[in-house]
Amino acid sequence: MIVEIADAMSGARPGARRESVEGYVKRLQKLEEVAKSFEGVGRTYAIQAGREVRVIVEHDKVSDALADQLSVDIAKRMKENFKDEIKIDMDFLIAGAILIDIGKLIEYDKVDGKLVTSKAGHLLRHPFSGVSIADRFGLPYEVQHIIAYHAKEGDLAKRNVEAIIVHHADFVSFDPFKA
Ligand SMILES: [Fe+2]
Repeated sequence: MIVEIADAMSGARPGARRESVEGYVKRLQKLEEVAKSFEGVGRTYAIQAGREVRVIVEHDKVSDALADQLSVDIAKRMKENFKDEIKIDMDFLIAGAILIDIGKLIEYDKVDGKLVTSKAGHLLRHPFSGVSIADRFGLPYEVQHIIAYHAKEGDLAKRNVEAIIVHHADFVSFDPFKA
């Protein structure tokens, strides 16, 4: 935090960090290229002089960014409306929403430039492989719960509040594209 503030103050000085337009554009392009090199990343935009890179993921390949945002928006609105009636842990909710599709890294392989279901993917869909990845990194069971039950496999389970919100946000940003 202190470093961030110092950095912002230093950068705000008149004349500080002035660079040629060409160098500036090149730097932004480089940032976007690096971000784009990741599997499943569609478009990238470097903004705020390269301090932030917005990444648009390909909806059918990796976790849907829209679902993440929807989860947060729904949770916030519910908190406003229901106050203490419903407890929502935003940390678990956001971590879970971001990671629900992490198992797709195992579920799919790239063959001749195309994504195909991997051998592991035929045996374990991404909610299962996602939990195994999350557990490997020691993530809390609350986050693993959201990953495990976010998709149809979770329909028979008893989802907690965070998992219910993420599940619906995920499907409302997915099902309409199939309608
Ligand atoms: Fe999923």
